Amino acid sequence: MIDRDSVRMLEFPQRGDERGHLVIVEGNQDIPFEIKRIFYIYGSDDTVVRGQHANLRSEFVLINVAGRSKVRVDDGLGNEAVFHLNRPHTGIYLPKMVWKDMYDFSEDSVLLVLSSEHYDPDEYIRSYEEFERLMREKANKS
Ligand code: TYD
Repeated sequence: MIDRDSVRMLEFPQRGDERGHLVIVEGNQDIPFEIKRIFYIYGSDDTVVRGQHANLRSEFVLINVAGRSKVRVDDGLGNEAVFHLNRPHTGIYLPKMVWKDMYDFSEDSVLLVLSSEHYDPDEYIRSYEEFERLMREKANKS
């Protein structure tokens, strides 16, 4: 079964040859969702922190197709982990309802983001206190 619950690094198939590198990311195959949206972030530096939100519905895969950055994930229940994005054939899978910060961008960082949903500002939770409350509520129910 496809795991859509846990944060994890993914490794994508590479079909490079003497002409250069080629990395493949197919929706529902190399990543656990159908891709509805892509966006990319560049021109950030090591003084910037991006993200700082959780999403009610969107799942994401983040790939540093050039350069490097870090992603801190937090479950709102006191657990956090830091992942390093620094290889174009790897990415991080972020399920819905994970708090994330992207930071420590190298000057040449191009961070590609694939998403399971079209953009809807109403499904973004931008208050950490609200996120913690929702995650505590969920934990108490299960
Ligand atoms: P923001 O969510 O702050 O970016 P990040 O998660 O990288 O910190 O988005 C910056 C602006 O871009 C904000 O005004 C919303 C807008 N935006 C869209 O219109 N569509 C999108 O798909 C995304 C990701 C952002």
